[in-house]
Amino acid sequence: MRVVSGIQPTGGLHLGNLLGAILRWVRMQDECECLFFLADLHAITIDVEPAQLRANVREMAAALIASGIDPAKSTLFAQSQVPAHAELAWLLQCVARVGWLNRMTQFKDKSGKNREGVSVGLYTYPVLQAADVLLYQATHVPVGEDQKQHIELIRDIAVKFNNDYDSDIMVPPEPFIGGGVAARVMSLRDGSMKMSKSDPSEQSRIHLTDSDDAIAQKIRKAKTDPEPLPEDPALLASRPEARNLVGIMAAVTGESEAAVLQRFAGQGFGAFKPALTEALVALLGPLRKRLEELRRDEAAIDSFLAQGAQRATALAAPFVDEAYRAMGLRH
Ligand code: TYM
Repeated sequence: MRVVSGIQPTGGLHLGNLLGAILRWVRMQDECECLFFLADLHAITIDVEPAQLRANVREMAAALIASGIDPAKSTLFAQSQVPAHAELAWLLQCVARVGWLNRMTQFKDKSGKNREGVSVGLYTYPVLQAADVLLYQATHVPVGEDQKQHIELIRDIAVKFNNDYDSDIMVPPEPFIGGGVAARVMSLRDGSMKMSKSDPSEQSRIHLTDSDDAIAQKIRKAKTDPEPLPEDPALLASRPEARNLVGIMAAVTGESEAAVLQRFAGQGFGAFKPALTEALVALLGPLRKRLEELRRDEAAIDSFLAQGAQRATALAAPFVDEAYRAMGLRH
């Protein structure tokens, strides 16, 4: 079992990233061979200042380490430091079909009405993501539900490559999506939208860097409904905001949603919200403190990333060579 996953170094970690991906990566480190990376090549598909990007990569690396990614156990690196990602992405662009990319809902969402004005990279973004995963013959890709369509595309690209070039080097990976609300943590302001760094409202999400007071304030203001909490989780189906908060509590404490509801059945959000704040502060407070310490040592972060890039390159370079050769190149 080989695990590969990435995160874009933009906007800092939020609770959706943590519950949907990062804290699950942390749990996998002891059982599997893991490679985790900062998708800085993906970050340049939209406009970003070079100095800002450089700072974001360090900040996100520190945030991952603070959250429990251990560079001694996992290979942690920045995508741009391993040239094989960009190389394989080109080869795979010649395998993937335009029709497949046209179906990608994330491109439609991100490009909006400006379809002609966005970068070509934003359009071929999922092909680079395919390279990220196929390079390492990853079997499992732990992600949130929003990445499911991209992982399915990776499988299609892998199968077509193997068929077209009479090869077996591409391993179609499995998406590995968490259960319950963790798969898709919703905005605190609107239970029909996912928690996202691109939401203009700061109130919609909780950041790893939020102070205890900021967490308390965001939870106090989180949208809810006036009904008391039920005992049966099925009764939350038509109450998206309530379901989200109960699901967050379950994901944070490690309880089932039924167990959370057993504790709060019959009570309103006046009782539930302070308990949720307490659980979030207990989870995030120590991670935030570690992040503050790690930030002070940029050289250490850079050195972790350099070591990670070296390990990843040792795996990726021979593989990309095989891909070239399968296609009749580099003979
Ligand atoms: P990114 O940077 O948007 O998000 C990183 C991870 O966090 C998950 N996530 C969520 N999970 C649950 N609820 C939410 N509200 C939520 N918001 C974000 C994402 O699903 C993701 O797992 N394209 C990817 C980065 C990437 C990648 C890859 C991932 C590049 N190459 C190869 C896996 C494999 C992205 O933009 O994730």
